[in-house]
Amino acid sequence: MTIRALATYVPPRLLTNADLEKLVDTTDEWILQRTGIRERHVVDPGVATSDLGKEAALAAIGRAGLTPADIGFLVVGTVTPDMMFPSTACLLQHKIGAHHAWGFDLSAACSAFTYALTTGTQMVACGAHDYALVVGADVMSSIIDYQDRSTCVLFGDGAGAVVLAPAGPDDGAILDFEHEIDGSGGPALCMPAGGSLRPPSHETVEQRLHYVKQDGQTVFKFAVRKTEEISRRLLERNHLTPDDLSLFVSHQANRRIIQSATERLAIDPAKVIINIERFGNTTAATIPLALNDAIAAGRLKKGDLVLLASVGAGFTVGAVLIRWGY
Ligand code: UT7
Repeated sequence: MTIRALATYVPPRLLTNADLEKLVDTTDEWILQRTGIRERHVVDPGVATSDLGKEAALAAIGRAGLTPADIGFLVVGTVTPDMMFPSTACLLQHKIGAHHAWGFDLSAACSAFTYALTTGTQMVACGAHDYALVVGADVMSSIIDYQDRSTCVLFGDGAGAVVLAPAGPDDGAILDFEHEIDGSGGPALCMPAGGSLRPPSHETVEQRLHYVKQDGQTVFKFAVRKTEEISRRLLERNHLTPDDLSLFVSHQANRRIIQSATERLAIDPAKVIINIERFGNTTAATIPLALNDAIAAGRLKKGDLVLLASVGAGFTVGAVLIRWGY
């Protein structure tokens, strides 16, 4: 199986560092220096994750030369579903008219795209479906506390989608993957209320528990260490070195995390995509947004060997090795 097409979507409204300076005690200089972010896109009220996913999905299906009715399976990676249930996969299936598809949501935070890509790949690889749609989409602005300077500067909204198809001999391939979770890291990055443990109440709302809470330094250190570790493990298992890669596409949480991890891996910076400056951390959408920029810049071509890597809340850790197919 191979990635037949990719498309992304971000809502038009921009939230710049200058805008955030008016909301919390922060500066453009601090945000840029500590995170690499200049601006992020955010939705207008009433726009949900399935709406962003719809734009990316329809564009990807069109680029693949297919119609929504050709899709047999769809998976939506997200931590910001439109609602607790039904799943965003169901809502998206209906919105795009993928009448023959079944599917579900996948919760893996910032590793959602690598995990969803792996899940979709297995559905095509086992022969159950010809075409799978993998979507990573998040409206992070719906769960961000714009009074908390330590988190509100980091996140943005966006979506990405890929269409997976069986691979011919000249096509690319999803070659291998390596994933792990470490639930002991749960408290370091979470949204404490709104689930079965702490159902919504006046008290949970007053305590602002329906927003992202993060111990930034703990997550930072874990992300650098694990991005290196999982990338190295996947490369070694495939008898490859970082020099064999054409492109390294990490989840975009912080410019310094990506730079530290790739320095440790001794990956040539020219092979590393960093586009966090324009989008911030869009959680499930960062990797497709980065791939899209790589394609647009002519940095990703048919036959290239690409390594994706992600670390997210959970903790979740993922890596996928791809021979790019178009
Ligand atoms: O994708 C999900 C995974 N998430 C991540 O990977 C995020 C990982 N963590 C990070 O990216 C970084 O830890 C942050 C960007 C969140 C924070 O950067 P840091 O270099 O770890 O800063 P810090 O938390 O150690 O804070 C340093 C100082 C503190 O002030 P004091 O205590 O030294 O006086 C903070 O209060 O910076 C302060 N600070 C800010 N100052 C201005 C925190 N946020 C801000 C802000 N503007 N927005």
